[in-house]
Amino acid sequence: MTVTSIDPYLPALRLRAGEAMRKAYAPYSKFKVGAALLATDGTIIDGCNVENASYPAGTCAERCALGAAVVSGHRKFAAVVICSEATDPTPPCGICRQALAEFGTTLDVVAVTTSGSEARWTLDELLPHPFTPSKLHTR
Ligand code: THU
Repeated sequence: MTVTSIDPYLPALRLRAGEAMRKAYAPYSKFKVGAALLATDGTIIDGCNVENASYPAGTCAERCALGAAVVSGHRKFAAVVICSEATDPTPPCGICRQALAEFGTTLDVVAVTTSGSEARWTLDELLPHPFTPSKLHTR
């Protein structure tokens, strides 16, 4: 089965991103984030931010989900839903935009808050002129 529209998956994606957010390990920022990736075969893979006493060693929810997806055999994605308790929906940080772009720039990116706000972009919009694998070609 191949995902043709993400719409039927959005309720499950919102739920999974919210559940992942509640598992986040964010004792330093107290800013919990959950991410749910929708693979093109319909599988949902989630992740949360995992902070560290050595602050730069912490990882965002989106990259946590991406790692879990790749290790479970998924490399093609249709959407990512990101959940936080912020006042406004939060798009992925720059590093996560770059990490996601490795696997395709047409990804739908949906950000939701626990209070019910939602915003939607494509990764193309969030990261114009991405550095993708083909950019590594040399003469
Ligand atoms: N964070 C994410 O998990 N995803 C983002 O796209 C933005 C930021 C996390 C990193 C850190 O643990 C906390 O949110 C505050 O920046």
